[in-house]
Amino acid sequence: MLVFNFDEQFNRKNTNSLKWDLFKERVKAKYNVEDASEILPMWVADMDFAIPQVITDAIKERLDHPIFGYSYVSDACKEAIQSWFERRHNWTIDPNTIMFHQGVVPALATIIETFTEPGDKICISTPVYPPFFSIPKAQNREVIECDLELINNSFEIDFSKLEEQFRLGVKMYILCSPHNPGGVVWSREDLEKLVQLCIQYDVLLISDEIHADIVFDGYKHIPTLTVKDAEKAKIITCIAPTKTFNIAGIHAAMMVVPNVELRNKLNLNKAAHGRDDLNILASAAVKAAYEEGEQWVDEMIAYVSNNMDYVVEQLNQLEGIRVTKPQSTYLIWIDYRGTGLSEEEMMLRLLEKGKLAVEPGTKYSEAGRGFLRMNVACPLATVKDGVERFKKALS
Ligand SMILES: Cc1ncc(COP(=O)(O)O)c(C=O)c1O
Repeated sequence: MLVFNFDEQFNRKNTNSLKWDLFKERVKAKYNVEDASEILPMWVADMDFAIPQVITDAIKERLDHPIFGYSYVSDACKEAIQSWFERRHNWTIDPNTIMFHQGVVPALATIIETFTEPGDKICISTPVYPPFFSIPKAQNREVIECDLELINNSFEIDFSKLEEQFRLGVKMYILCSPHNPGGVVWSREDLEKLVQLCIQYDVLLISDEIHADIVFDGYKHIPTLTVKDAEKAKIITCIAPTKTFNIAGIHAAMMVVPNVELRNKLNLNKAAHGRDDLNILASAAVKAAYEEGEQWVDEMIAYVSNNMDYVVEQLNQLEGIRVTKPQSTYLIWIDYRGTGLSEEEMMLRLLEKGKLAVEPGTKYSEAGRGFLRMNVACPLATVKDGVERFKKALS
């Protein structure tokens, strides 16, 4: 029996929401759009669904105690994390190898700072989530973009191109698994090839698995640390409950670091920056999410999958537009190259005529030109509205 109502619409305006409030200033500045008040935001990756009540209750319960002194993450919270990944991903995580951070993005920044020097080469497969290149660049590392191959509208890694780069002296490779923005669930075979290459060329492999829990029927996420020979490679995996349970504003993430030398170095970096683990409310939220949020996640995935089917069916009817249902994530990668429109023209049509905000493909590197990313983690009525706006923009 279905328990949760994902059709419910919430007014998120004036809640200090990046997605609903701050974007207006951004589109005004970037695209010179005069009136952004009626634009429907389907861009940044958070959901317009109420979070599981169990998480809200856990935070409220903690709020009921009137003292908020120094705290630490409980063993019970670590056990909840461990149990979730065991149940959902057949991955046994030793709780001693879990290191907390305020987010996956700050964790990536810490990892890059700890294990590379200015000028070092960091390789990524593009198009990809922007901090994969913006953080290394901000830390004066050299970013090596290795474009993914688009085959039948789905991305594949070109391993010979990747090996060529590794041979030239790459220090670190950052994998997005499942892939944002492509929605690809990497196969065991792909992950094994990647791990072998990282061992062969002594490349530190960072696996960002923040989207691991949102995978559609017929696909299965494979944690990089579970593939053959993973223990022989240097691997750090980043995980988080924030995409899965729609709690990005809570700020919580974990690095799983089985290699003790890597862990020691990360601990030194933590000490150097005086960083702490999760705050008292975040750890209450994380524990409740992983202990009691399972049914919400299952129902949310089924709901989003249905939204995806709707968008794919509708947009594929438009001339010049090609969309394939992703294997994972609540983000759809839309190919509009067939329209002949430039990115600027497409964005202006969407924003001014359609009153719709989606992400332009070049945000994910030059390899994303000709594509858009649309977030469909919202009530179906909102999705339908978004599709109508998309159609209007192209009419
Ligand atoms: C691949 C990937 N990593 C990290 C993040 C954000 O992580 P956090 O909010 O924990 O910093 C996102 C958000 O969209 C993402 O897509």
